[in-house]
Amino acid sequence: VKKNRNIRMVSRLLQAAAEAMADAYAPYSRFRVGAALLASNQKIYTGCNVENVSYGLTICAERVAAVKAVADGQREFRAVAIVSDGTTPPFPCGACRQFLAEFALPGMIVAAATRKDLADPRLLTLRELLPHAFRLDKKGTTSRRASR
Ligand code: THU
Repeated sequence: VKKNRNIRMVSRLLQAAAEAMADAYAPYSRFRVGAALLASNQKIYTGCNVENVSYGLTICAERVAAVKAVADGQREFRAVAIVSDGTTPPFPCGACRQFLAEFALPGMIVAAATRKDLADPRLLTLRELLPHAFRLDKKGTTSRRASR
């Protein structure tokens, strides 16, 4: 039962990511990406890539979705789906893996698919994509009060 529910949720997320891709601003690479993130409040936050004429300022779709969720008070991510109009499933870049890891619940799912093959996603956990994510030890963190 739970498995079926998860499969349905992943396809909902993939659908939402494909729709978010329509808003991608990618005049330089012409590579459009959409992301849809499920937070623990059960809401879906979407994002698209936003490029810049100063190329390195480009922000990936995954990070746009993540900051939207956090700005809405959500700090626990269950799953993210990523869709591109390329020919291979778009796994998140290294920077986005670390960015997502900050707010990932244990077992957070990453689903990646091409627009043409939405029904055939690649499924991995974020942990599989980013083992040994960077963390600060207790001594290195600011006080709880300062980080809230
Ligand atoms: N891009 C994403 O949005 N997500 C990724 O995971 C990888 C790359 C975007 C950045 C840039 O606008 C375009 O794809 C080509 O690199």
